[in-house]
Amino acid sequence: MRALVVRGVGERPRVEEVVLPAPGSDEVRVAVRAAGVCHSDLSMVNGTLAAPYPLVLGHEAAGVAVEVGADVTRVRPGDHVVLNWAPPCRRCWFCGHGEPWLCERGGAPAAARGATAAGEPLHVTLGLGALAQEVVVPQAAVIPVPAELPFEAAALLGCAVLTGVGAVRRTARVAAGESVVVIGLGGVGLAVVGAARAAGADPVLAVDVSPAKAELALAAGATEFLLSGDSLSRAVRERTGGRGADHAVECVGRGGTIRAAWRAARRGGTVTVVGMGAKDDVVPLGALEIFHSARTLRASVYGSSDPDRDVPELARSVLDGSLDLAPLITDRTGLDGATAALDRMARGEGARTVVVP
Ligand code: APR
Ligand code: ZN
Repeated sequence: MRALVVRGVGERPRVEEVVLPAPGSDEVRVAVRAAGVCHSDLSMVNGTLAAPYPLVLGHEAAGVAVEVGADVTRVRPGDHVVLNWAPPCRRCWFCGHGEPWLCERGGAPAAARGATAAGEPLHVTLGLGALAQEVVVPQAAVIPVPAELPFEAAALLGCAVLTGVGAVRRTARVAAGESVVVIGLGGVGLAVVGAARAAGADPVLAVDVSPAKAELALAAGATEFLLSGDSLSRAVRERTGGRGADHAVECVGRGGTIRAAWRAARRGGTVTVVGMGAKDDVVPLGALEIFHSARTLRASVYGSSDPDRDVPELARSVLDGSLDLAPLITDRTGLDGATAALDRMARGEGARTVVVP
């Protein structure tokens, strides 16, 4: 089968012929029908996130289970599934504590799962490697969804949407009438915008460095678009009774934008960091400022969500029309177009590209 492989930091990902192992007793072979290109993929290409190479990219996908091991009970061949990049073990302290998104075993950055190219072992992103025609994954990493759910919507539920919607509903717990500022309007940020609006937030201020994101933000439900820059916290205060936003949500993954989100939140407000930044990128926060601002700073890992519970719920919302993912998808391509999609993402163009491999 064919898959998108990157062979080192900064190298150009290419489609390669890849051989997958047959599924083990607890594993499922999935034919991928749609896969989103996420900024975390780009971060594993440009070195922002550490990853071993050669690496099969991709972790946001949906498809059809085509072969299941003897002990698999969650799905049968023919079932439609969303892939979960952090399947919880259900046994560790965090899982037992109701925080499966922090599972000690979930979300290994790039496991070796037996995939090879010309006999050479490959790592697969987050145990999936989903920018590929097929994956072989543990049954815990597949979540059955209704066959009526379009594959491209299902794919986005696996990362951008679960993350963005979860950040609003579960991490920040945005309530009706609260003000929200969202910094960074890719697939994740636009999902945050839509969920904030759906929660009744007002205003929903959407912020990006790229003016081309204005139209996408308004389509996703923002009440106003603001350009990122030095005067952001003033612009936000002007629109929030002089105080700053009740919630600021960072969806870029940089120290500078985390700092901007911090400054855009009101005294006592919440700052939710969704973006995954680099290890050496430091955010300066004054000791007195932390005390005086009385803000709460939280990170949202996988939307503080339990994918087994929340992906099916989101699937129902898509099917009943209450969750519209159309504004998040700006491009569609085959596997050969996935590298160009990463280029567009690096330039800050568009939102999600869905790859049909
Ligand atoms: N200020 C505001 N917006 C910015 C800035 C900035 N300084 N720098 C970049 N951006 C914008 C880009 O223009 C782009 O619209 O942030 C957006 C990021 O979108 P994508 O690249 O599409 O990223 P996405 O897949 O949405 O992921 C966002 O969440 O899961 C993490 O690793 C992921 O850190 C990444 C973040
Ligand atoms: Zn992702």
